[in-house]
Amino acid sequence: MRNCSRTIAALLLMTAPLAAQHPTWTIGMSQCNLGEPWRVQMNADIRKAAEADPRLKVIFKDAQNDNLRQSAHLDEFVRAGVNLIIVSPKEAAPLTRPVSQAYRKGIPVIVLDRRVLGSEYTCFIGADNKKIGRAAGRWIAATLGGKGKVVELKGLMTSTPGQDRNSGFREGIRGSSLSIIFEADMKWLEPNARKEMESALARFPAIDLVYAHNDPGAHGAYLAAKAAGREKGIKFVGIDALPHEGQMYVRQGILAASFEYPTGGKEAIESALQILTGKKVPKEITLPSRVFTPETIDKGGELIHD
Ligand code: FRU
Repeated sequence: MRNCSRTIAALLLMTAPLAAQHPTWTIGMSQCNLGEPWRVQMNADIRKAAEADPRLKVIFKDAQNDNLRQSAHLDEFVRAGVNLIIVSPKEAAPLTRPVSQAYRKGIPVIVLDRRVLGSEYTCFIGADNKKIGRAAGRWIAATLGGKGKVVELKGLMTSTPGQDRNSGFREGIRGSSLSIIFEADMKWLEPNARKEMESALARFPAIDLVYAHNDPGAHGAYLAAKAAGREKGIKFVGIDALPHEGQMYVRQGILAASFEYPTGGKEAIESALQILTGKKVPKEITLPSRVFTPETIDKGGELIHD
């Protein structure tokens, strides 16, 4: 009897690591860059969700903000025979072909956060950037009492969130007397936002608010204003609201508001499991978003709606 239980214990010890070493499915994940905290968080969310299921193994690749490198990831994953691909593309047009090629070869592809063109992929997961932009526009118009001078620092305008956060915002402020006195593409990057804001500050003696398409952009603008001694007279609004980034800036009084942009990492793994176990997933999964202000941050922000 004792021998028997010892054998069982030994077997259990052997099978646990074996299960992890021999997963049932391999997922290839191509991240467009890891230079920004939001993308590091997305990978962490994917890793955490995947580690909870020993049938899954995820291979992560970082495209370092290079479309060609990211296209090559897709080809490499196809050649390696992965069971499913998750891709968070840099730009829509250049990544469309490699994504559809993988999809046509029968490999399920989950597109996360930024879109590709057309519909040759299995499932898109992301929050509604147009809705977020609209909510930001309405919030800004209300906060400024319907009038004021606004700087818009845009995300990469060849990526879909940049386009939608711009057009949604313009819809949101329609009917108000706000004027956009300066707009520039800071390509999602804090150092670019800082430089663009330096130009805006040099040209305009009065600026009421900066709407940046992400929190690094809003923070870069704040740093430029601070260096010019003008940060106190300007409000800064961003998007992402990571707990240790945008939410922290709201707590510190740097941002007047940050709109959440969930990474979708956990949901991507949930959908991957559905697909890999032969279940159907919706073509489009839209994630909710919250807004955090100094007044609402302690109660977890507020859900945004149209
Ligand atoms: C990170 C990021 C986020 C932004 C998202 C949009 O690369 O710029 O800050 O919300 O991409 O795709």
